[in-house]
Amino acid sequence: MKNIVVLISGRGSNFVAIQETALRENWAQTLGAKIALVVSNRPDAKGLGLAEGYGIETAVIDHKAYATREAFEEELARVVDRAQPDLIVLAGFMRILTEQFVNRFAGKIINIHPALLPSFKGLDTHQRALDAGVRMAGTTVHYVTPALDSGAIIAQAAVIALPSDDAHTLADRVLEFEHKLYARAVKACVSGRVRCVNDRAVMDDDTARELTLFGNV
Ligand code: GAR
Repeated sequence: MKNIVVLISGRGSNFVAIQETALRENWAQTLGAKIALVVSNRPDAKGLGLAEGYGIETAVIDHKAYATREAFEEELARVVDRAQPDLIVLAGFMRILTEQFVNRFAGKIINIHPALLPSFKGLDTHQRALDAGVRMAGTTVHYVTPALDSGAIIAQAAVIALPSDDAHTLADRVLEFEHKLYARAVKACVSGRVRCVNDRAVMDDDTARELTLFGNV
């Protein structure tokens, strides 16, 4: 069985979208893959209770309990390693990971970012996109590298930004596409249809089509 480990910090709606797809499509049978562990750096993350509801093992590694980022990550790496991960999925995990951690799991960590990278790296993406007057906002799934929000792009969804939008309405519209896109991207990665080679996400044309979404509703 291939093990997927999901790291969260809060709500966990992307985690739920992936798990619901895994159940609906019976990934355990069809891909030989399952979410084996959900880890949160925040004890109050709503996603933890949701994971428990699915009977998935959970762990809390509270970053505030560690004196340094390195000490926090050492424990995080130990817990993640124990689950023997084939893929580590950051789903609203709001801690920056050091080069040491990223290199330890090189090519196995993916993230979803709520913007069309390489535009709008970092925080507050929707407000910044609206301030810039973009017509298309969106979301990106990418490999995690030591530089923030800069790894090879795996999947993208472009979503219309309406004149009437504020950061909340735009975030809601993008989130709907995040859920669809991330489940597809996790599936493609875990089944080996996407691989990280020389800092590029390598895939065939059909997979690329599946991992590119457009929404104008
Ligand atoms: C999502 O919108 C995700 O793109 C964003 O946090 C939200 C988590 O929601 N991630 C980042 O901003 C990472 N820099 P969720 O907990 O409901 O999945």
